[in-house]
Amino acid sequence: MARVHKISRRVQNIRISATKLMPMLAARIGGCVSLGQGVPSFPTPPHIAEAVSRALRDEPGIGKYSLQPGMPVLREVIAGRLAEEKGFVVDPGTEVGVTVGAMEALLMTMLTVVDRGDEVIVPSPGYASHAEQVLMAEGVPVYVPLRPADWGLDVEAIRAAVTDRTRAVILCNPGNPTGTVYDEADVRALCALALEQDFVIISDETYDFMVYDAAGNPAPMPFSPASLPEMRDHVICINSFSKKYALTGWRVGYVAADKRWMDELLKVHDAAAICAPTVSQYAALAALTGPQDCVDAMRSALCLRRAQTCAALDGMADHFSYVIPRGAFYVMARYRFSHAASPEVARRILEEARVITIPGGSFGPEGEGHLRLSFGGEQEELAECFSRLGAWVRENA
Ligand SMILES: Cc1ncc(COP(=O)(O)O)c(C=O)c1O
Repeated sequence: MARVHKISRRVQNIRISATKLMPMLAARIGGCVSLGQGVPSFPTPPHIAEAVSRALRDEPGIGKYSLQPGMPVLREVIAGRLAEEKGFVVDPGTEVGVTVGAMEALLMTMLTVVDRGDEVIVPSPGYASHAEQVLMAEGVPVYVPLRPADWGLDVEAIRAAVTDRTRAVILCNPGNPTGTVYDEADVRALCALALEQDFVIISDETYDFMVYDAAGNPAPMPFSPASLPEMRDHVICINSFSKKYALTGWRVGYVAADKRWMDELLKVHDAAAICAPTVSQYAALAALTGPQDCVDAMRSALCLRRAQTCAALDGMADHFSYVIPRGAFYVMARYRFSHAASPEVARRILEEARVITIPGGSFGPEGEGHLRLSFGGEQEELAECFSRLGAWVRENA
């Protein structure tokens, strides 16, 4: 091969995740409906769009770079939220960075924390991009199974996996793809382990607003490691505006951490992005300072869709089993009708039933034998998905 086309080892080692590939395949096939989306169906709330339109008219700075860590007023509001909701007290001037989605914040973190050969513990199944980002930093993702009965955090298994190369554990709470909300006691035990063994918890809190109680009603946020003052040096807290305010396309999120971390994280941010899009920072500001009933409305709609999804799976109990999700808008459905690997099952369902699902194996070894189903879509679309899936399963199982 010509030398010019030699690809770096770090890029050779990573892949585009199945969550992005399946919709691309579906677009080629045509006529598909989706249980694959990582995006709830809601449009950007009108008051956010209005605020951005006003700012486009009135704020000459909106078309320019913001300060590198983000607009000061937005960082102030984020710091206020973190203190109020999680008891995480950070200096908005030096300990909050506005990023290009949670994704950039996560990558900044991996590149800052992980050296070649360092290990990062990734509870499995887990969000595929976490492991890809560890690989991109030339680290080693060490998969530690979640408890299979409830997808809970197995802190003893994590303890057993810690070595002198362990730099971090990823905590995604609520979890994608499992929809688990980890017990506070387990999160506290993980924090104690982080202090004892001196590793960092990378806390991905993208879905913290999306939690259901046992009856399926909205419930309080999960416990964050950042709530514990003693964790200050051992936690990097990441969040997103994408799902909570239906702003996935605006690409805005943030990272909050002790200044000693933030000074380093911002070097990567500078090299990667300079700053988050200023126009999107105005959207984030309007989202945080405006009425919150849009979040309540989305949460209530997702509660209904969750109930619809669980009912549909219960109706196919001979073919699928699952753990009831307590957060986010995903469920891992274990299929009983085939021993084939999940990419093969998902491909057949896509081609033959024209329903997008995500192969569970793409979320780590423990995801194999499952399909990740998202209930972010409209209820009519979900109904169509389950009608097609039910018919396919009856014919093929
Ligand atoms: C767990 C998790 N973290 C981070 C992200 C990325 O979020 P953002 O759109 O803010 O980059 C996603 C998106 O699906 C996610 O599921």
